[in-house]
Amino acid sequence: MATDTIIEAKDLCLHFKIDEDYTVKAIDGVSLEIKDGEVFGLVGETGCGKSTTARALCGMYKPTGGDILYRGESVKRKETLNRMHKEIQMIFQDSGAALNPRMTVEKIILEPLKIHHMPVNSADIKHRFDYILEKSGLDKSHLSKYPQELSGGQRQRVAIARSLIMEPRLVVADEPVASLDISIQAQIINLFKHLQNEHGFTFLFIAHDLSVVRFISDRVGVMLKGRLVELGPTEELFNNPVHPYTKSLLSAIHIPDPEYERNKVFLEYDTEKPLGDIMLEVSPGHFVLEEI
Ligand SMILES: Nc1ncnc2c1ncn2[C@@H]1O[C@H](COP(=O)(O)OP(=O)(O)OP(=O)(O)O)[C@@H](O)[C@H]1O
Ligand SMILES: [Mg+2]
Repeated sequence: MATDTIIEAKDLCLHFKIDEDYTVKAIDGVSLEIKDGEVFGLVGETGCGKSTTARALCGMYKPTGGDILYRGESVKRKETLNRMHKEIQMIFQDSGAALNPRMTVEKIILEPLKIHHMPVNSADIKHRFDYILEKSGLDKSHLSKYPQELSGGQRQRVAIARSLIMEPRLVVADEPVASLDISIQAQIINLFKHLQNEHGFTFLFIAHDLSVVRFISDRVGVMLKGRLVELGPTEELFNNPVHPYTKSLLSAIHIPDPEYERNKVFLEYDTEKPLGDIMLEVSPGHFVLEEI
């Protein structure tokens, strides 16, 4: 079970100054800890600051306030930042689009090892390569191809395989499977889960699909307008959300539950007879208007 903190955001702020009068507070005082070996899911509506948080944690943006600690040390120290860069990998929704068009798939996947002067012909690496290739939904026939000869989904799978070959300590995955079809999505999610269970990988995982987040995450953080409004173990948060925003976010998931269908309440409204004063509490996804 995960215990040590691998990365920590302390009162992290990232304010983009657009002009003299206007600043976007993309992250506004976020504090969170990601434990070594856990999958930490980050959810929230579009524009709430998930990607900005992920990029800031990876050192792609310089925070305008607060600090980031990697293994307990501030990344303001150059040595800590360098160590973090070596141990971290980031996968974006469009990582596949950024592959080098002059390299074959095989070279692209092996490139990180070469950059770090690691042997690519050892039995261990060959085994890892074959394993990641298969689990990413690729096969040997793809290896001699160039990115432009592949579909968008295949390119994304190459990018995922490339980011995993170094066995990074922390993978920041920002909607990594959003562009893939459902069967490959499931395969990649299972690969992530396996890498966490068997090899102790740590993931910061961002997705709009809450059922995927629920399946893969040990803990989940909920963001709203640049702030973290709720954080807790996954099942606790999904079963007993506390913050009103979390409640409304989760209630938008459609759960085809027969029990729920049986317990549905129908309110009939006769236009001839006024109802008087009534109060209705409505959650998105739980309210259907039907003419009878
Ligand atoms: N480079 C930038 N310059 C100015 N504003 C930015 C920049 N990057 C992000 N923002 C703004 O910061 C806010 C948070 O954006 P962010 O991309 O982090 O949201 P998100 O939660 O990842 O959304 P989505 O679910 O749509 O991916 C948004 O209002 C966005 O417009
Ligand atoms: Mg985003």
